[in-house]
Amino acid sequence: MSPKSGTTTTLYGGASHRRVTIVDLKAAKVAGEKWAALTSYEQMTAEIFDQAGIPVLLVGDSAGNNFLGGENTIAVTVDELIPLTRAVVRASKRALVIADLPFGSYENSPEQALATSTRFFKEAGAMAVKLEGAHLATVEKLTAAGIPVMGHLGLTPQSLHQLGGYRVQGREDGDAILAAAIALEKAGAFAIVLELVPAELAARITDALSIPTVGIGAGVNCDAQILVWTDLVGLTAKPPKLAKVYRNLRQEITGAAEEFARDVRGGTFPGPENTFN
Ligand code: KIV
Repeated sequence: MSPKSGTTTTLYGGASHRRVTIVDLKAAKVAGEKWAALTSYEQMTAEIFDQAGIPVLLVGDSAGNNFLGGENTIAVTVDELIPLTRAVVRASKRALVIADLPFGSYENSPEQALATSTRFFKEAGAMAVKLEGAHLATVEKLTAAGIPVMGHLGLTPQSLHQLGGYRVQGREDGDAILAAAIALEKAGAFAIVLELVPAELAARITDALSIPTVGIGAGVNCDAQILVWTDLVGLTAKPPKLAKVYRNLRQEITGAAEEFARDVRGGTFPGPENTFN
């Protein structure tokens, strides 16, 4: 299935129906082509976003507070994310599917990170992993083992309690984030998420790197942008300022549920068209 929209020549050029790769993402940066990424946690959105031409799907640990009923991302486990990742891989044909390494599954050592990433690759079919912070030896170990790594700097939600909440990062220590980004690229990362940092800092980092930056609350000058899908379509009850809400599915779904309940109470569902003889 070829993507219907959101396509770019580098990422979707020619007649190829193969998956997007990290080589394509690097080429897009060289060509100056921006791309969009979305989170996905299950089959339906994976299929829809893939067919819409979204080249990168992240099975984020944001599943914790957008799919699994948690307050934040911290409690999410590898065992919870593996079946979600498997569903996203199975339901997509073109997108590069990245698995987020959950809190507590990689920080201990490069060996721990390799063991966790190997599970995502073998059990779920992930094509890359993402991890928060500047774990340079870990990035080196994973990439040497053939596992592409996406970094994540700025607001790193797994460090929520250390950071004192969901606050903009890098207003005072922007140079430290820039240095961490450069070090991550040197260690082998293929891209870096920049979350909730001043736009001017994100632009500086984007200029300094030859790998793509993926912004979320980081201004328009990043090479790519990512959103949590439930924010994109207005399912999140209170979407964050960093997100643009493109549709109001909460309202749509509420309307459908209310109408269905009304029809059942009034005896108008099922109608003849939904009934078998
Ligand atoms: O888990 C997630 O959704 C993320 C994105 C915000 C980048 O890490």
